[in-house]
Amino acid sequence: MKDGIQLIIDGQEIEGRPGQTVLEAAEDAGVYIPRLCWMKDLTPAGSCRVCTVRANGRPQAACTQPISQGMVVENDTEELRTLRRNMIDMLFVEGNHFCMFCEKSGNCELQALAYRFGITAPKYPFAFPARELDASHPEILIDRNRCILCGRCSRASEELDGNKMFGFVGRGAEKQIATGSGNGLGDTCVGAGDAAVSACPTGSLLIKRIGFSVPVGQRKFDSQPIGADIESDDDGTSERA
Ligand code: FES
Repeated sequence: MKDGIQLIIDGQEIEGRPGQTVLEAAEDAGVYIPRLCWMKDLTPAGSCRVCTVRANGRPQAACTQPISQGMVVENDTEELRTLRRNMIDMLFVEGNHFCMFCEKSGNCELQALAYRFGITAPKYPFAFPARELDASHPEILIDRNRCILCGRCSRASEELDGNKMFGFVGRGAEKQIATGSGNGLGDTCVGAGDAAVSACPTGSLLIKRIGFSVPVGQRKFDSQPIGADIESDDDGTSERA
């Protein structure tokens, strides 16, 4: 590659393209960097910090950090695995996530990350916040108990659907996703087929009346861990132990 940018990730030399972030260059090279608020084709928000790496020794969000010539990136280290595990742990106790009852189980990126990181029990006390469910729309619903405030629905609505149907209101522990109309989901023009709905990584934004049409056991992350598709060899086998 003529204008390639050489960098090192976990001791492996890779080549990226100008304008790429660490996450994108790593992905092209078959290196998975865990992520939650990042989604392909959306402007990166850099908010969840699950993708934290050390770039030239400094902690950076891989989804927003541009690559540079000779950059040395640490990704799969015990320090970073612990940091990411703690952040995922906190997301679980900060909301109300009951995977065994959730329609998104098996397709949920938060749940899949927990499995990948070996999280089987809560490390921190549950906050059990009182959060609202809005089922006022004929096709979809928002369950704020499962919202991790990644903002993917909001960015997808604006950048892919050409709407601005979702945004944040409140601050700190009171922060929550809200609809642009202010009158609830039923007062918006969001449709079940909109990118905003499919952008949700958890079971917060769900389409009604299709629950469990794909049986548990046959869902995306039931057969392989999250990130395995990036780490797969050409023959489809995963390099991950
Ligand atoms: S995926 Fe990079 S900060 Fe969320």
